[in-house]
Amino acid sequence: MKDTAEKLSADELAALQLERLQWTLRHAYANVHFYTKKFDETGVHPDDCKELADLAKFPFTTKADLRDNYPFGMFAVPQDQVRRIHASSGTTGKPTVVGYTEQDIDTWATVMARSIRAAGGRPGHKVHVAYGYGLFTGGLGAHYGAEKLGCTVIPASGGMTARQVQLITDFQPEIIMVTPSYMLTLLDEFERQGVDPRASSLKVGIFGAEPWTEQMRAEIEERFALDAVDIYGLSEVMGPGVAQECVETKDGLHIWEDHFFPEVIDPFSEEVLPSGAQGELLFTSLTKQALPIIRYRTRDLTRLMPGTARPAFRRMEKVTGRSDDLIILRGVNVFPTQIEEIVLRVDALSPHFQLVRSTRGRLDHLTVRVEARHDATTDARTAAAAVLIAGVKDGVGVTVGVEVVEPDTLERSVGKMRRVIDERDKT
Ligand code: DLL
Repeated sequence: MKDTAEKLSADELAALQLERLQWTLRHAYANVHFYTKKFDETGVHPDDCKELADLAKFPFTTKADLRDNYPFGMFAVPQDQVRRIHASSGTTGKPTVVGYTEQDIDTWATVMARSIRAAGGRPGHKVHVAYGYGLFTGGLGAHYGAEKLGCTVIPASGGMTARQVQLITDFQPEIIMVTPSYMLTLLDEFERQGVDPRASSLKVGIFGAEPWTEQMRAEIEERFALDAVDIYGLSEVMGPGVAQECVETKDGLHIWEDHFFPEVIDPFSEEVLPSGAQGELLFTSLTKQALPIIRYRTRDLTRLMPGTARPAFRRMEKVTGRSDDLIILRGVNVFPTQIEEIVLRVDALSPHFQLVRSTRGRLDHLTVRVEARHDATTDARTAAAAVLIAGVKDGVGVTVGVEVVEPDTLERSVGKMRRVIDERDKT
């Protein structure tokens, strides 16, 4: 079926969203014990949703709710209708498990195809998928979307980095889909093999699954001579393809609002915020059968803005922070992306860095451990450390330590990057 949603008028979209929202609320209430109980306790009923703004009366869903109902307690359809399971790794405890019916998988492929198209992909392009395949939604999500668009998929998955460079060189894909941090690992490998990354066939990179900055975009675009665009998503809501940046504007990500309804709230007061205000992003699924999700607290911080390249849909600003990554250092909030921005402005420093938290006396301390660029002299490295300390003090308002280390010494990412290393006393 042809995907015509991007042509909807504002009124048509709102009417479609309301109809789908009412269906979702009824479906969740009737088929998921968790929602029956939660709505009853809150004193709301699906019939109370008469307009889109009524959604604010309904309770939130959190990651803990999914964990408490591990593994399949949040599913709204009998198991024989569930065609696929994915799970998000989670660093501690049980993973969160999600399920898809046949129709859900088709919806997902449709929004992913729309995303790849918005990024500049066209039928006939070759798409190298280096997101991990498996329980993680990145690989298979990208894969089905690229096929649906009519592309040729190269399902490389993550890892075996030397082979990835060989495949790109030999198969000549126009598009790569990968985490931005693994793209940097690939960049190193191109250079190690003496292959010029700018001469590769790649024209577009579709990067997501972790925060990355405008400075990182500039770095990757310059070193690879390609267009780098952002893709956002999360397993609980679907996987990749919830929102996508358009290559012609690169101005934030259009949310595929005919399937995922966004709200932004103040994370403390939990009030819905007006368009343009920064806060925590929530999503309500509008068409999902196996796992309808109501007002899911993503913990991602962003703001909503009107559409541009796809006027039917609102945009979300690039997610540069998630409340889980926030480091509070002597009372000052620090996000790893703020450090990334500053590191990339210093010529002698590479984009490879880690943030090491430690305890000195009774105070928390943060050290930026960053690799020098290959051509940086000893003097340039010493000067760079001073520039970085001053930049962080100036830009973020905290004093950090800086260790400039040799090139190629820090751990490399093959998927989502682990930026923060916690060496604080646990006593
Ligand atoms: O990371 C889905 C995905 C795969 C998105 C491939 C894009 C590309 P999860 O493992 O459930 O799903 O992690 C979701 O990752 O809540 C964000 O905190 C973060 N995240 C995802 N995309 C972006 C992005 C996949 N473009 C969590 N920018 C989300 C910043 C992102 N953070």
